[in-house]
Amino acid sequence: MNVPVPLLDLHAQFAAIQGEVRPAIEDVLTSQRFIMGSQVAELERQIAAECGAKHGIACASGTDALLLSLKTLDLEPGDEVITTPFTFFATAGAITNAGGTPVFVDIDPVTFNLDVDLVEAAVTSRTKGIVPVHLFGQMVPMERLAPLAARHGLAVIEDAAQAIGARRSIERTWRRAGELGTTGAFSFFPSKNLGGWGDGGMIVTQDEARAARLRKLRTHGGAKQYHHDEVGTNSRLDTLQAAVLLVKLAHLSDWNAARRLNADRYTTALGDLDGVTTPVTDGANEHIFHQYTTRVERRDELKQRLADRGIGSAVYYPKALHLQPCFASLGYREGQLPEAERACREVLSLPIYPELSEDQQNAVIGAVRDFYS
Ligand SMILES: Cc1ncc(COP(=O)(O)O)c(C=O)c1O
Repeated sequence: MNVPVPLLDLHAQFAAIQGEVRPAIEDVLTSQRFIMGSQVAELERQIAAECGAKHGIACASGTDALLLSLKTLDLEPGDEVITTPFTFFATAGAITNAGGTPVFVDIDPVTFNLDVDLVEAAVTSRTKGIVPVHLFGQMVPMERLAPLAARHGLAVIEDAAQAIGARRSIERTWRRAGELGTTGAFSFFPSKNLGGWGDGGMIVTQDEARAARLRKLRTHGGAKQYHHDEVGTNSRLDTLQAAVLLVKLAHLSDWNAARRLNADRYTTALGDLDGVTTPVTDGANEHIFHQYTTRVERRDELKQRLADRGIGSAVYYPKALHLQPCFASLGYREGQLPEAERACREVLSLPIYPELSEDQQNAVIGAVRDFYS
């Protein structure tokens, strides 16, 4: 009999924490403070502390966390921002929406992250910033990227949407995703390791002046009601979301550890298979496995076979951003960023959520092994 294994099971998480979340929601209902209630400031404080950052600025989504961060760079038409083509669309979309031009640099085929060795050659007199993405939950080598950016006077906006709680050992000190950049942007989309019950996001920064500007930008560009220093937008995090996220944040490090354990089990059970390359964690990184992303032969066939057995899997991402129709005017050609394009053909992410049972994981492992034997 097939054991059904969804790609992600939010029902299992809800069952485990509903006793804690319901009273937290009830508190918001009692207060009737749905906009900027005390839970928002508390979440900002706790997330900033988790990241080793001085300031946290909650906003409406991970996309807005990137967009508002990029707005603080005051990009002029033609200004360039370097990023990866192998990421969720929001990374590059935010660059365009902030008035800049994305410049795509190929990825490191081992970690799927921006290849830092290729970044410097892409810097021009128009470059204003770099948006590294800590993809699938492991960090970009910030100890190499941050000094490179500093040498060229560039901002670093960390897209940490998938990497809350990820850390990297730099000079024998743990450094967190979001800690070393000009800003770090997080997403609380429900499927994230720390997911809300709707959209939400957070910016962290060490820079007090930038934090003050970001707080203004999220409320129509003014610190004082009906006074607008610049044109911002409405991008706040709902108090209800902050209340849910505060409850969940207390569980985050256990959930991330459970994901790492699941990843270890997969890697032990699948590592010997011809046709499967299991994910590699950079030796300096503590991965949070937002996704467990393999490279596999006959990817689409395997995905179908898993689906036939009731097992969820997903392709993150099927089409690299430099080849998206909306960026055609940038003039990229197929074959220009070969590692990103190859990743798009080969990757498959398997269920890795913390509540995955041993039976479920064995079902996934059995199905993958059967396919290649
Ligand atoms: C790498 C990356 N960047 C940005 C985002 C955008 O976050 P959101 O969906 O909260 O707008 C996401 C999440 O979907 C993401 O995975």
